Amino acid sequence: MKSTYRFVIVVVLVAGLVIILNFTPQLSKRIHNVREETDLSFSPVVEESSKINAQEVAICVVVCGDRLDESLTMLKSALVFSKRPLKFIIITEENLIIAFEEKLSDWKVKVNKTFTYTVRPIKFPVKTDVFMWKKLFKPCAAQRLFLPALLNDTDAILYVDTDTLFLAPPELVWDEFKNMNSTQLAALSPEHEDPNTGWYNRFAKHPYYGKLGVNSGVMLMNLTRMRIFRWDDYVIPIHKEYKLKITWGDQDIINIIFHFHPERLYIYPCRYNYRPDHCMYMSVCTDAEKEGALVIHGSRGTFHSQKQPPFRAVYRAMQQYQLDTDKYENLLLPMQNYLMLEDNSNCGKVWKVFIIQPELHLSNNFIT
Ligand SMILES: *[C@@H]1O[C@H](CO)[C@@H](O)[C@H](O)[C@H]1NC(C)=O
Ligand SMILES: *[C@@H]1O[C@H](CO)[C@@H](O)[C@H](O)[C@H]1NC(C)=O
Ligand SMILES: *[C@@H]1O[C@H](CO)[C@@H](O)[C@H](O)[C@H]1NC(C)=O
Ligand SMILES: *[C@@H]1O[C@H](CO)[C@@H](O)[C@H](O)[C@H]1NC(C)=O
Repeated sequence: MKSTYRFVIVVVLVAGLVIILNFTPQLSKRIHNVREETDLSFSPVVEESSKINAQEVAICVVVCGDRLDESLTMLKSALVFSKRPLKFIIITEENLIIAFEEKLSDWKVKVNKTFTYTVRPIKFPVKTDVFMWKKLFKPCAAQRLFLPALLNDTDAILYVDTDTLFLAPPELVWDEFKNMNSTQLAALSPEHEDPNTGWYNRFAKHPYYGKLGVNSGVMLMNLTRMRIFRWDDYVIPIHKEYKLKITWGDQDIINIIFHFHPERLYIYPCRYNYRPDHCMYMSVCTDAEKEGALVIHGSRGTFHSQKQPPFRAVYRAMQQYQLDTDKYENLLLPMQNYLMLEDNSNCGKVWKVFIIQPELHLSNNFIT
């Protein structure tokens, strides 16, 4: 008798629990909805702050060896031009972490801008040959192929090589995300504009994207979509199959993946990733001549040599600039002066490419 009684109580309790569990989510959803409605109508502050968050530009760079100074100069250029909050994600060797932390915390005090940063060590998937990946291309660039897994809490990044510089607000590049459709998980610019001087169409022994391939130095990556696509699962098999045929390491792997999935890639013009190749034979990036380069990429070592002086001129001005000083006097004027120095190189003939955007964005400072 007593046990039946107990049984009935248990049944009632369980039934009660089931009912509560079923209704609670709906209840909380209803409360949540109400709260959302209230937020929208009465609390514009909340809306504002989430909008700002959505606009944050996350710039990611992987740094090894002697690239510390070069990558800091790139990060400085992003701070110079940006009008939106920035987030720097720096992935580097253990022995460089402290140097980055020191410089960036110093900048945080000096710069009257909101930016955040994280500095973290290089990490490869456990099961793979770490040594082989580090050797694959210039030191540790292959890290970039594993960012979707490594940055598993990040939605999207603008990945740049260390030898790049912003000549305009980074958000102009970032906002290309808005032009991508829901299939496209990355954006890149073509490796070449002209088939006569193209590398992939003349020399590559492996498949590549489109007619002339893509350059991977300035890459918008929607990491969420790359994870859904299972990007990481493509990298190792493709490397296994083509490793004897690839020349440019990670960039070739990216080209091979997008050769087989062209609908996944969005292409932006050459002024988003302006390189010596665009001017060293003849000028082939006409949009940069008209509107100026947004990002320059000193590949072929041009930031540090006299081969194509405009690249070094702009780099030098940015490297010397102190962040808390006047941008017109101490950055734009030196940049113009260095570009005016005698220069008979082919890239020197189109020096305007390098100064149109800085003049546009730094002269404002002067007027006010
Ligand atoms: C720093 O920013 C604040 C608010 O954004 C502004 O009032 C102030 O004038 C700025 N200071 C400098 C030195 O630019
Ligand atoms: C993200 O990565 C970290 C370490 O790399 C790991 O501890 C964590 O479980 C991962 N999170 C997810 C959701 O995979
Ligand atoms: C990346 O893709 C996800 C899933 O499609 C989307 O929700 C998110 O807004 C995208 N991020 C950016 C910056 O476009
Ligand atoms: C996105 O654009 C690509 C290239 O134009 C196209 O192949 C793909 O079907 C598009 N996806 C959607 C969802 O429209």
